[in-house]
Amino acid sequence: MTGTAAVVLAAGQGTRMRSRLPKVLHPLAGRAMLDHVLASLAEAGIERQVVVVGHDADQVEAALNGRATTVRQQPQKGTADAVRVGLEHLEPGTQQVVVAMGDAPLVPAALFGELLAAQADGDACIALLASHPADPSGYGRLVRDLDGSVQAIVEERDADPGVRELGEVNAGTYCFDAGWLRANIAAVPASPSGEHYLTDLVAMAVSTGRHVAVVSSPRAELAMGINDRSGLAAAERILRGEIAERHMRNGVTIVDPSSSFIDIDVQIGEDARIEPWSVLSGTTTIGSEAVIGPQSQVIDSRIGARTVVWSSVVESSVVGEDVQIGPYSHLRPGCEIGPGCRIGNFAELKMTRVGAGSQIHHFSYLGDADLGEAVNIGAGTITANFDGTVKHRTSIGDGAFIGVDTMLRAPVSIGPGARTGAGAVVTHDVPAGETVVGMPARRIGTRRRKPEVDA
Ligand code: UD1
Ligand code: CA
Repeated sequence: MTGTAAVVLAAGQGTRMRSRLPKVLHPLAGRAMLDHVLASLAEAGIERQVVVVGHDADQVEAALNGRATTVRQQPQKGTADAVRVGLEHLEPGTQQVVVAMGDAPLVPAALFGELLAAQADGDACIALLASHPADPSGYGRLVRDLDGSVQAIVEERDADPGVRELGEVNAGTYCFDAGWLRANIAAVPASPSGEHYLTDLVAMAVSTGRHVAVVSSPRAELAMGINDRSGLAAAERILRGEIAERHMRNGVTIVDPSSSFIDIDVQIGEDARIEPWSVLSGTTTIGSEAVIGPQSQVIDSRIGARTVVWSSVVESSVVGEDVQIGPYSHLRPGCEIGPGCRIGNFAELKMTRVGAGSQIHHFSYLGDADLGEAVNIGAGTITANFDGTVKHRTSIGDGAFIGVDTMLRAPVSIGPGARTGAGAVVTHDVPAGETVVGMPARRIGTRRRKPEVDA
């Protein structure tokens, strides 16, 4: 959208959060508060975004990592002062300026669009977003005259009891006529506290006969500003509710949305089923008809179609189709699991590739390993991958059969179709088709053995 730009205010200290992390960087459903605002503006077609930073500016700039232009407000002398600083960095051709608060992350793109339209329509120099929250305390109140037009916004700290009674509040999100804003921003007087309130522009506009348009948020909670941890938790709840609704509309079963925690960037295929007490975070993708939970946590991972992850943790890994994991397994970062595998009760895997149809049941640890297809890992198998200084790899060929309680001292390689006996401590490579037993494991003849039964 040419001629349109946004100034996002994120320079305040956020004292009420009582946090070392800048307020606007607190995460909500897997994304920093500030990033929700920037994403929503972009979705509304407002690509030119200037973020005003100040308190903890280095940290906020580092987190933005070039995703938006930043300008510094030093010292922080209020919201009008912040906008003044932001305006200096907008292109001369800018006609409409949206001002958004870095601590109001739930404002949807559609409302930014309505503000742009309301300001462009008629002679309004300001269009502002208002709402009727259940508890208006902390917000600036809208004061209207008898015919309903807005006269002023009065900050709570300056409001008399009559004004405090008013239930309509200022969300802190606006669209301004750029020329009017440029001409008037520096004239906003300092309040007794020394801050310059952006909200004073409303009375200034009205006093010169200009019109101020109001867009009312149909749902007050979407206009909320987050000032403390309790506000943060409330916003998280609302956002998670919206995310769950979106997935359910797309054909995902979420058995209990109130106990399912799904980050905003997670993708879930049709007919997947999210059982209670599950957490899907980061950039996770869940395939169609997969079942996650009860009680599973999947972080930055890809889970294939029809795969079941039951009471388990999967981190930064890729799991194929028709896999069964758990209960009580842990895939640590860097695992790639082929289709049709079974990863059993109490298995831990790290940086391990597992070929199609392999089975890793009961109490095993595989770290830095490459498994071929149709490998069977017996109960209690361990890769001793760490010699105290460096990690070493283990490779196990297609169709190998690793007996219960085998210890594989890496680096070591088990050939395709090879077998190890129960309790073998394998310190040397085992050629294809051979069987080793004992401690340290030694080769035995090629006598035929009855297939071991995996209970
Ligand atoms: C502000 C509004 C209030 C509105 C509420 C909505 C003013 C004076 N008040 O109050 O009418 O109801 O938001 O949530 O605007 N900031 C800066 N530089 C500064 C001061 C603040 O960038 O010098 C930023 C903050 O980082 C924050 C935003 O502006 O993201 C709002 O500041 P905050 O102190 O939270 O304002 P409120 O008291 O909530
Ligand atoms: Ca605020």
